[in-house]
Amino acid sequence: MELLSLQTLFFISLLSLFVYFVINPKPTPTTGFKIYPLVGSLPQFLKNRHRFLDWTTQVLRDCPSNTAVFRRPGKVHGIITANPSNVEHMLKANFQNYPKGTRFISLLQDFLGRGIFNSDGDLWKVQRKTASYEFNTKSLRNFVMETARTEIQTRLVPILHKSAQTNRVLDIQDVLERFAFDNICKVAFNVDPACLGGDGGEFMEAFEAAATLSSGRFMYALPFLYKIKKYFNMGSEKKLMKSIATVHEFADQIIKSRLEEGGERKDEDLLSRFIGTGEISAELLRDIVISFILAGRDTTSSALTWFFWLLSSRPDITEKILDELQIIRARNSKGVGDIYSFDELREMHYLHAAISEAMRLYPPVPVDTKNCREEDVLPDGTFVGKDWFVTYHTYAMGRMETIWGSDCCEFKPDRWIEDQTGVCRQESPFRFPVFHAGPRMCLGKDMAYIQMKSIAASIMERFEIDVQERDKCPEHLLSLTLRMKGGLPVKVRKRCVDAMN
Ligand code: HEM
Repeated sequence: MELLSLQTLFFISLLSLFVYFVINPKPTPTTGFKIYPLVGSLPQFLKNRHRFLDWTTQVLRDCPSNTAVFRRPGKVHGIITANPSNVEHMLKANFQNYPKGTRFISLLQDFLGRGIFNSDGDLWKVQRKTASYEFNTKSLRNFVMETARTEIQTRLVPILHKSAQTNRVLDIQDVLERFAFDNICKVAFNVDPACLGGDGGEFMEAFEAAATLSSGRFMYALPFLYKIKKYFNMGSEKKLMKSIATVHEFADQIIKSRLEEGGERKDEDLLSRFIGTGEISAELLRDIVISFILAGRDTTSSALTWFFWLLSSRPDITEKILDELQIIRARNSKGVGDIYSFDELREMHYLHAAISEAMRLYPPVPVDTKNCREEDVLPDGTFVGKDWFVTYHTYAMGRMETIWGSDCCEFKPDRWIEDQTGVCRQESPFRFPVFHAGPRMCLGKDMAYIQMKSIAASIMERFEIDVQERDKCPEHLLSLTLRMKGGLPVKVRKRCVDAMN
């Protein structure tokens, strides 16, 4: 009987696929994802998986409230939305009903354990409380500024100078990722892996592989397949486990020696601050540190890589940013190459707007998913069942006319600038959820802007970044963050300094 029903199931699945691929019914006028019996949206998902963001954006754009129901075999059933009212509801108004949930947590558990990124409830709350307090201290801000300054002056600028002298093509995405990795390791546990200098590759590579392969678990046609591969220690799961072991070993060693030193060291890094609470086990310390490295690693580099690509075809915007830098330098009697202070970075409204605009179109975390605890109805009337996933689609939201108007797909930093004051305005985090919103909003937002503005200003005032294929839109590489497939090859030229001062 059981065999019979299995065969029947198999037959019906085949029939559904046949109907979709061979008979290929004419598209029905209804909007949203096509849902077939048994296989749900799987055929469409498989067909479009390689262009997941653009495909789903197109579907959401055509839906009346920019929200659609999605279903795949293996109980993957949920909602994808680009509607700000729904986003506000799930991230703030009804926050308790939308935790990360067991599916998300279990997929990332091997890598992230129970760190802040991968926990709910009390475990999340306690980490959030300590981290929020620390992220607001002036001492952490100074440490972040100093770390970025050192990395810019001793590594980034020399590498770009060398590239300018030799006229060799450089992958700026790789450079920015190495920068961000060095930077976040220093801020997280005061270790300098010197990846930008060309060393320390093993930890970074292992981290990279662990992040990419863990996120790959979300993209299986049948969600339980990874468990089978993991059980038999095969293929990508074998590689994932090896990478995770390398990452854990590296972090464990640092934590062990730091704990052995007791309270003797008074470092400013995040690990010391968490050790200082005296309540956290070595294993949880490791998970926390790994979560922070993940958060700070590819996010800023992704934002800046897309920023430089967008700028490459907009000399008018480059000019405006350079003018702003020049005014700030003149006001504070500075020359090109002097490091900007925190207050000077805050004065860079146009640069802030241009980076925000780049992230509007290419958000470093393009989609983010929660789990619905009890069935609910979203503000636009969409029903959400218990245990359904709910994904808010930040990438699609940047491309919705309903939010940004008919020029939504244009790169226009001026849309952020207030006419009267020239100040970069704040946007509602529900319309622009690039840094998430509500109680789980990104803790590193200010840190990220400090870093991104320091890097962009230092590079732009000294060098011209000549993107090699500026007219071709780079392909996405969807890891946990939005990266460019194949990197961003550029040639670097020294900017004429006399003209700038
Ligand atoms: C452009 C840069 C960045 C962007 C776009 C960004 C975006 C985000 C997003 C979308 C989330 C929510 C993810 C989730 O659902 O769990 C998040 C959470 C978080 N971010 Fe960022 N982030 C950036 C940089 C940073 C940096 C530099 C740090 C500092 C190390 C950081 C620390 C965190 C932490 C700790 C969380 C978890 C908050 C919680 O769950 O309570 N982020 N970020």
